[in-house]
Amino acid sequence: EINEPCDLVIFGAKGDLAKRKLLPALYKLEKSKKIHENTRIIGAGRANWSIQEYRKIVENEIKTFLNEEIEDYIWKKLSTRLYFCNIDVFEKLHFLRLKKILQQKKNIMIYYCAVPPNTLNAIFKGLGDSNLNSLPARIVLEKPLGVCLKTSQKINNQISKYFLESQIFRIDHYLGKESILNLLALRFANSFVFNNWNNQTIDHIQITVSEEVGIEGRWNYFDGMGQMRDMVQNHLLQILTIITMDQPNSITSENIRHKKLNILRALNPININNINIKTVRGQYSSGVIKGNKVPAYLEEHGANKNSQTETFVAVEANINNKKWCGVPFYLRTGKRLACKYSEIVIVFKKIPINLFQNSNLKLLENKLIIRLEPNANIKLNFFNKIPGLDQEYKLDNSQLEYNCFHKKSIDAYERLLLESMRGIQSLFVCRDEVEEAWKWIDPIINAWKQKDSSILQLYMSGTWGPEDSNLLLSRNNHVWHKYN
Ligand code: BG6
Repeated sequence: EINEPCDLVIFGAKGDLAKRKLLPALYKLEKSKKIHENTRIIGAGRANWSIQEYRKIVENEIKTFLNEEIEDYIWKKLSTRLYFCNIDVFEKLHFLRLKKILQQKKNIMIYYCAVPPNTLNAIFKGLGDSNLNSLPARIVLEKPLGVCLKTSQKINNQISKYFLESQIFRIDHYLGKESILNLLALRFANSFVFNNWNNQTIDHIQITVSEEVGIEGRWNYFDGMGQMRDMVQNHLLQILTIITMDQPNSITSENIRHKKLNILRALNPININNINIKTVRGQYSSGVIKGNKVPAYLEEHGANKNSQTETFVAVEANINNKKWCGVPFYLRTGKRLACKYSEIVIVFKKIPINLFQNSNLKLLENKLIIRLEPNANIKLNFFNKIPGLDQEYKLDNSQLEYNCFHKKSIDAYERLLLESMRGIQSLFVCRDEVEEAWKWIDPIINAWKQKDSSILQLYMSGTWGPEDSNLLLSRNNHVWHKYN
């Protein structure tokens, strides 16, 4: 076990992320005995809680947000690790309070910034000015890192004054998901996949991340972002790079990041010249999801009725390198769609000569369907002769259920917290990746703002998005693989 004793400081201890994700994940890590004996967890924030009060608050939060019964002896163990530091990050001297707690032990410091972006710089500076930033201290950042290239560079420049890149752990929680990690094994350890992963064999690839939820009371956050910045800039581009990157020399952060960067740099630009044929954007109107009536985006709590923010995006991305040129990558993601699922569909090229022209099946199209969530599985469809005297054929699936291993699946935050305690960066995003992603996203968002660009289309909640999302594919004689 490479896990060393840490002092994990959670800035934003009172916030949503800490409650919903971080504390339940820490409980689970405690349960799997992954946290070092001497590790401490220090909530930090403006509240004036005593340690006892904080422990009680966390207990209640874990009881609310953990999706299993809390076990007494595990909670007791976790609870003795918990401390609280009253700190207003805009008050320089308050950092000395934190320093005092940290100096009691010589543990590795990990600062988890679960705070709004406008407090980040004060934290970087406060830690730096109080000498709490030297190696081996680490700092964990949540998305969004800026809203465009410029603002993201600003944050990256601010943090780099106090922390080295090797100390910075930028979270994209999709990288902690079990089924996303399995993509590396699928691609680089199976010869039939490895040898057929290029534009000679693959016709096109579809990536869908469909959400059922709306904006969950986050109007102020979401309306300034939109689905493009909230989901495509990070999660969908991460999936795209993992599915297309060349084989890294080894599974280390440096090698993987380098290969992913090559893909981001090879993305063909989308701008005002091709915006109308390469993108579709939509906003949900009211509708019914699983029998429940849901309001339109513009009727959400706190809504500005003139908002042009997109809650759905479909994009055709193209990668300009030898391996992938000519292969369209269709990415789509939206809120309030018919159901929550994410999937990658690899559609293989048809065989040039079809010997079965006269059979009942006209379309010989093999697909590899990788369901990421829920119930991760991998399906490959085959053309088979149906037993019998007639010449009848059927495309059938062979299917690997990912839960066939009978192992409990690890929550993304559980894994990422553990990796940050271990100091391993491969599941985190580096500065260059974030900035390269913005370089591709910015011109799209700018083009949308221009007058002659594609208009925002309304789609009814509970559907698969605006009609034009189908047009995006039918232009190339493709269709979205149906959810089933
Ligand atoms: C977050 C976005 O990063 O990912 C949310 O800010 C989104 O808007 C969420 O709903 C989706 O995550 P998951 O793990 O539920 O697919």
